[in-house]
Amino acid sequence: MDNVAAIILAAGKGTRMKSSLVKVLHPAAGRPMIDYPVMAARAAGAAPVVLVVGHQAEAVQGHFHTAGDIRCVLQQEQLGTGHAVACAREALAGFDGTVLILCGDTPLLREETLKKLIEFHRAHRAALTVLSATVDDPHGYGRIVRNDGGAVLRIVEQKDAAPEELAIREINSGIYCMDAAFLFDNIDSVGSDNAQKEFYLTDLVAVAVNKGLACLALESGDAEEIMGVNDRGQLAEAARILRRRINRELMLSGVTIIDPDQTYIDQGAAIGADTIVHPNCHIDGTTVIGSGCVIDGNVTISGCRIADNCHIKAGSVLEDSQLHEAVAVGPMAHLRPGTVLHAHVKIGNFVETKKIVMGEGSKASHLTYLGDAEIGRDVNIGCGTITCNYDGVNKHRTVIGDQVFIGSDVQLVAPVTVGRNSLVAAGTTVTIDVPPDSLAIARVPQVNKDGWRLKKK
Ligand code: UD1
Ligand code: CA
Repeated sequence: MDNVAAIILAAGKGTRMKSSLVKVLHPAAGRPMIDYPVMAARAAGAAPVVLVVGHQAEAVQGHFHTAGDIRCVLQQEQLGTGHAVACAREALAGFDGTVLILCGDTPLLREETLKKLIEFHRAHRAALTVLSATVDDPHGYGRIVRNDGGAVLRIVEQKDAAPEELAIREINSGIYCMDAAFLFDNIDSVGSDNAQKEFYLTDLVAVAVNKGLACLALESGDAEEIMGVNDRGQLAEAARILRRRINRELMLSGVTIIDPDQTYIDQGAAIGADTIVHPNCHIDGTTVIGSGCVIDGNVTISGCRIADNCHIKAGSVLEDSQLHEAVAVGPMAHLRPGTVLHAHVKIGNFVETKKIVMGEGSKASHLTYLGDAEIGRDVNIGCGTITCNYDGVNKHRTVIGDQVFIGSDVQLVAPVTVGRNSLVAAGTTVTIDVPPDSLAIARVPQVNKDGWRLKKK
């Protein structure tokens, strides 16, 4: 849509969160709450997006430092929503179109609703359109006061309302569309003669009505969507609704989610068709998973790219790793950042990896630590193998060639290289490079003492 700008109010502290973190940076479904209205405004065509920041302004601003279309303006003192909007005046100087006004704490608001609001506002050539909703419990919200003919007269805040006004169940969502000229020509005329001694943005409704300008309320069909988050109970409720939406969309695109109420997939994650996700998985928003995979229960995946037909078994934790086709991991494996597993690799239970590349078809099936290593194709890493990569000061690399067989309980003291097609005998501590095609064995020769136990007794 042409000529739409957005102002998002995010200067408030969020006292009821009882937090040292400003409210709008609290995450819901993996993203700070403020991201959602920003995304919705952008998707509805708003540019620029002006954020009014106050409490922890630097933190909020820092969160958007790479987003070129976001302009932050500071509201030094929180004197009310009307004052907050007035702070955006300079940032929108010369802008002459429709201004969307949103709150930073309404993460459930959808792009389609904003588009509808803008279209409605423009179709009626309104000066101001407010998005309203009829709710069972209007407590705390501003009420939409209409005349007998149904025309909007004004908005009255809970704290200023007369008893008969308190009975009104049509509430102000705090989301508006305004004509930019109307907004900035009139915002300074709003006073603070009210119960809270604040400059109320909502007073612009009466201003428009008194001037005989078109001023409308569009009732949103979905009261859930405009829910504001004020405390942590509402934060959890909003996150639950966001997850339900994410999961529903994934299921419609062909992903099987065994129990969507207990699956925690963040906004932004991509998962291919015919992948099955079992309960209590956490998948972050930067992860990409291919099709035909199985993600068992209690798996946590963040920052990973996982190709098709992989199996991540129960209890595994995968961070910033890359898995090619048909890799199997776990149960209870830990892939730490920088792990690259080529096709058909198998990582078994209680294996930890960090900054390694493992070639096609290689296996580490049990109880192993592999860090800072380059491992070739078709390598077998025996149970209990450890790359001793750290000398207390520096990290060192281990290089293992193709087709190497590492027996059980081997320590590889890095830096060290095991040449291709060699075999390292069980129990060996490898301290010098092993040439290709050879056997490396380093064990203390065994001594058997006949009858030793009997003599002891
Ligand atoms: C406001 C509306 C109310 C509506 C409700 C919807 C007014 C006067 N009232 O009430 O009609 O039903 O939202 O949720 O507008 N903010 C600033 N600077 C300020 C004050 C507020 O940036 O000086 C921001 C807050 O951070 C918040 C938003 O504006 O994101 C709404 O402010 P809040 O104080 O929560 O308004 P309500 O009393 O809920
Ligand atoms: Ca509020």
